[in-house]
Amino acid sequence: MSYPYQISSMEAYQQAYKKSVDDPEGFWGSIAENFQFRKKWDKVLEWRFAGDGAPVVKWFQGAKLNITENCLDRHLDTLGDKPAIIWEPNDPEEHYRMLTYRQLHQKVCTFANVLKNNGVKKGDVVCLYMGMVPELAIAVLACARIGAIHSVVFGGFSAQSIADRIQDGKAKLVITCDGAFRGNKTVQLKAVVDDALVQCPTVERVIVLTRTRTPVSMIKGRDVWWEDEIKKVETMGNPPCPAEEMDAEDPLYILYTSGSTGKPKGVVHTTAGYMIYCTYTFVNVFNYQPGEIYFCTADLGWVTGHSYVVYGPLAAGATSMMFEGIPTYPDAGRFWEIVDKHKVNILYTAPTAIRSLMAHGLGFVKDKDLSSLRVLGSVGEPINEEAWQWYFDNIGKKRCPIVDTWWQTETAGVMISVIATVTKPIPSYATLPLPGVQPAIMDEHGNEIKETEAKGNLCMKFPWPGMLRTTWGDHERCFKTYFSAYPGKYFSGDGCLRDKDGNYRITGRVDDVLNVSGHRIGTAEVENAINMHADVVESAVVGYPHDIKGQGIYAFVITEGDRHDNEDLTRKDILETVARIIGPIARPDKIQFVKGLPKTRSGKIMRRILRKIAEGEMNNVGDVTTLLNPDIVEDIKRGKV
Ligand code: PRX
Repeated sequence: MSYPYQISSMEAYQQAYKKSVDDPEGFWGSIAENFQFRKKWDKVLEWRFAGDGAPVVKWFQGAKLNITENCLDRHLDTLGDKPAIIWEPNDPEEHYRMLTYRQLHQKVCTFANVLKNNGVKKGDVVCLYMGMVPELAIAVLACARIGAIHSVVFGGFSAQSIADRIQDGKAKLVITCDGAFRGNKTVQLKAVVDDALVQCPTVERVIVLTRTRTPVSMIKGRDVWWEDEIKKVETMGNPPCPAEEMDAEDPLYILYTSGSTGKPKGVVHTTAGYMIYCTYTFVNVFNYQPGEIYFCTADLGWVTGHSYVVYGPLAAGATSMMFEGIPTYPDAGRFWEIVDKHKVNILYTAPTAIRSLMAHGLGFVKDKDLSSLRVLGSVGEPINEEAWQWYFDNIGKKRCPIVDTWWQTETAGVMISVIATVTKPIPSYATLPLPGVQPAIMDEHGNEIKETEAKGNLCMKFPWPGMLRTTWGDHERCFKTYFSAYPGKYFSGDGCLRDKDGNYRITGRVDDVLNVSGHRIGTAEVENAINMHADVVESAVVGYPHDIKGQGIYAFVITEGDRHDNEDLTRKDILETVARIIGPIARPDKIQFVKGLPKTRSGKIMRRILRKIAEGEMNNVGDVTTLLNPDIVEDIKRGKV
């Protein structure tokens, strides 16, 4: 397979970019020609704002397709015996698994028949809460095969978070594992699902895959084993599972993500535009060459796993590595050992992982053969210069371009990034917009800054095929969150600057969203969870710079009564409460008990002041005279933890 749309020179990039702006429909229409449709589209793009200002965006209207035919069936003749997925287990002693395109196709069809046997129909929502095993990718694709909408929930979320997501999507069926291996721990996934389901009457069936062989409860009439269900289909002679014909704009999946409010929202991606955008960006950003081994370390619980472990690479006929474990188990050489063992050509990971491995020293790198590497990628948070340099020098041996890819759950795919071997990497810059991406930097008055050198809030002024279509069950929320701050434009929530050559540097979120180890967490969500603790009266959560995690979570908490006889225990109780309500990933790094919070006369918490204190900038908290309670600031400064 070759890619007629692969950009191979700076000139080609400039041409593609120009065409994408001058004639977006012609540009994306010609890229779409490289995919398999049952019926072609009538119109490439419909883009308008309804009477109330809500956006309407439709790509490739009228087209009929199934994304799994593009990811699997169409490769069978040419790539049938080539590896689609190579899976490395948590424990290096366990043998890795390899699934060819033919095997993956077979397994997806079999499991799709399992879903059908269990009553799943086109348009139903299926919730997946699994570890990083190949069956997770199989289950995702099986949903897509029959037109069910998948909603994957990351394994680090609590029962309450799963229940919220199941209820919001009205999922009928849940797929989980008995447990998951993560480093030296076993995570009890099924037990968490059981707790969640107490609140979820819509769920009729739970399919449980055996992975850790931990004892689990199995409820008659509701819970069935994955393996038994597969056997049933096999005894039926393993009938084929024709792909459901989907409309270009039929929903493919829901993925919940955090924003400034306490309630995560279900970002909805649809079929044709999503597929084309992930694949186009995958092939170009990484300069993927047929036959190469590509390793993205992301979990399928996040958008990176959806777009760049499963859909993008498979639609491009690539070999995608999947990894069950963590970068530091059994030691901090695990990534490098995988690269050495499988001769990985392209590695895509997060700055947090790089910083954590960097802290373990070069001893874990030096005996590994990393000469197969050709391109390195970074995603999820700003990469600091030191980490960038370490990655470039010690992993890429100064040979491999680093693609620092800026994008979001809402964008489906990379928006601003280096194009490997084509455009020039600059440490800590995402650099240039990809073709089809039209950024606008907005000033504080809401106007676009036209000068090349600029600093402000990052928006998009034209749609791209991967753009979110709505937030599940609440289009109004989609409109308010993304399209109301700057009418007619998509607002990313990020701040950025643009240098004199047009390179973009992302400076971080300008809303109340934190990025902790690349995980997106809303401060309001964490506050709500802390406030659930029986003794808590009020709390305020801010981010602070953290050497490894990028950002840490700092909570200022007012409690009722006298907790001081055992402050430490109260702290632990609060952490446990947050873990129960959201999940372990949202546990604050620091909790400071305070008597009050700095508030304006109208009762608003002055987070700016708290942020400065959390950052340790005690003398730089700014004007406090307008506060209702200025004295509290000194008090909080004294108590900083
Ligand atoms: O703040 C930006 C940051 O991560 C946010 C999106 O998070 P999420 O939806 O979870 O998607 C992560 C995977 C794409 C953005 O608003 N972010 C992501 N990539 C970068 C980044 N910040 C700086 N540089 C990046 N390369």
